[in-house]
Amino acid sequence: MAELLLSPAHVETETVSAETVDETLIEQEVAAMERIKRARETLGDQVVILGHHYQRDEVVQFADFQGDSYQLSKEGASVAAKYIVFAGVHFMAESAVILGRPDQVVILPNMQAGCSMADMANAEQVLTAWEELEQVLGDDPTNQIMPITYMNSAANLKAFVGARGGTVCTSSNARGALDWAFAQREKVFFFPDQHLGRNTGKAMGIPLDQMVLWNPFKPFGGLTDAQILNAKIILWQGHCSVHQQFRPAHVDAWRKHHPDVNVIVHPECMMDVVDKADLVGSTSYIVNTINRAPAGSKWAVGTEIHLVNRLKHANPDKLVQLLSPFACLCATMYRISPLDLANVLENLVEGRVINQIFVPDDIQRNAKLALDRMLAIPK
Ligand code: 13P
Ligand code: SF4
Repeated sequence: MAELLLSPAHVETETVSAETVDETLIEQEVAAMERIKRARETLGDQVVILGHHYQRDEVVQFADFQGDSYQLSKEGASVAAKYIVFAGVHFMAESAVILGRPDQVVILPNMQAGCSMADMANAEQVLTAWEELEQVLGDDPTNQIMPITYMNSAANLKAFVGARGGTVCTSSNARGALDWAFAQREKVFFFPDQHLGRNTGKAMGIPLDQMVLWNPFKPFGGLTDAQILNAKIILWQGHCSVHQQFRPAHVDAWRKHHPDVNVIVHPECMMDVVDKADLVGSTSYIVNTINRAPAGSKWAVGTEIHLVNRLKHANPDKLVQLLSPFACLCATMYRISPLDLANVLENLVEGRVINQIFVPDDIQRNAKLALDRMLAIPK
């Protein structure tokens, strides 16, 4: 039996089997379900739990509202409760702070729940890029280029965009955001997800050579003046490490063995995968499409594994499988455990707020401009 040393202090006196550790954790998680239920009952309508589709079942079952990033931002803006517990990732909780009332408190059950894509663009890099674009495009890039940030970005990037007349978008309204931007300016600077930007631009008929990739680690993004001047969309070199794992070969393999399969993917997948898919859309689009599909239909799904498994169990009359043979798990969404949820709720019962998300006032003001613009753009 494999043995696991607990800590240096225990080396000589105590060892514990790996199986024992796992059982303890499982028992704790089961007990956490009861703790969450009890705390919820005590807190009543003082607290609302919002849950993203990628959360694990043990957590998302407690959500008062489950949805995609867009729906959660809309829902967050209309919550009456004083406490919003966000079962999602950091940028979602920040958006709930920005869109919520000043007296509301937004709590992230685990402060380690970030997003690797959001971390691929920071304010300093984006400001440098903007200044370099300014040098190439002339005095005031604001007259020519519209900044759009994907929801999956830090609040200070939403503020950057808001202060320059731009908007936020999510995977469910990126097309509307690009149409809105091009109605006002010649070009779009889109960050941090290159794939969402490219897939949406391509669907609008923008040629690939007019969608250029900005490498934040190179001067002028590694682009020539001619490339920048010719571009319609300047795409930040960022991606989702989960959706990046789906490959065109996975689609080919499904079609070979199941010619009648429907391939449905999230727009964070790379263009070569999206081009081969039958359908593309946000997590809620994927949920609604599969739930409404006829019995007996087959679905290969290119998105996070917890959502795909939930869809599979909710639709036993259909074949629903992950597009890839490997588990595509969002490790940061997974960080929120039932223990974390029980912990923040029990602290609220005791009158203590832990893991509150704060956004400085000046950032909130400008970020709200960008989020309000997004919510006003027709989907
Ligand atoms: P949506 O919720 O917009 O589908 O996006 C998925 C995602 O990656 C959230 O981080
Ligand atoms: Fe970020 Fe990708 Fe996880 Fe979404 S699925 S939170 S984009 S790492």
